[in-house]
Amino acid sequence: MKQIVPSFCSSSSLLISLLPAIFLCISPTQSRLSVKIGSDVLSQICAQTEDTDSCLKALQSDPRTDSTDLYGLAQVSINLANATATETKTKIKSQLGQTTDPNLHDQYSQCLDSYDNAIGKINYANDRWSIKDFLALEAASSDCLIDIDTCKDVTTPASPFLPEQNNKSHLLCNIVSTIAKRLAAGNN
Ligand SMILES: *[C@@H]1O[C@H](CO)[C@@H](O)[C@H](O)[C@H]1NC(C)=O
Ligand SMILES: *[C@@H]1O[C@H](CO)[C@@H](O)[C@H](O)[C@H]1NC(C)=O
Repeated sequence: MKQIVPSFCSSSSLLISLLPAIFLCISPTQSRLSVKIGSDVLSQICAQTEDTDSCLKALQSDPRTDSTDLYGLAQVSINLANATATETKTKIKSQLGQTTDPNLHDQYSQCLDSYDNAIGKINYANDRWSIKDFLALEAASSDCLIDIDTCKDVTTPASPFLPEQNNKSHLLCNIVSTIAKRLAAGNN
């Protein structure tokens, strides 16, 4: 008997001392300032862009989207825009070195400039994001849209890949801009 009582006591006091830890584990620990993006907010954001379905696909392609807040989602979108614009620039460069068609050559060299500028705006957007200057973030993403429109204006359907890349890049800067607007409005 003498041995059973202490071991019973110690195991129940162990359980009691664990209770707060168990509560901590199952209770929500989100702070008010950092609310995880729900699928409802994600859908709302994408519905405000130029292509809802592609927007959802793009954001959900990044594993960070599942666990981040609106501020974090802004950087996800900046990184995606950067990756797509950089990929487009690389494709343009490689085509520029290969094409013998003077019209395509013109398109590619103008678009190379546009994408250089767009990538500059996206990286500037990232600087503004890091200091939480959301109005400047929004302005930088609008500038990115203008740069890509400049390339769109000279792109003809004869280009094998530019129309599609322009659409992808434009949508991603549009997503950055949409999220920046929400952040600037304090609507997170
Ligand atoms: C954009 O991509 C380049 C090249 O991969 C990288 O050096 C840069 O840090 C990226 N910037 C952002 C904001 O994602
Ligand atoms: C690009 O977008 C325009 C308008 O949003 C659409 O009409 C066109 O089919 C798209 N082109 C490609 C190649 O995705």
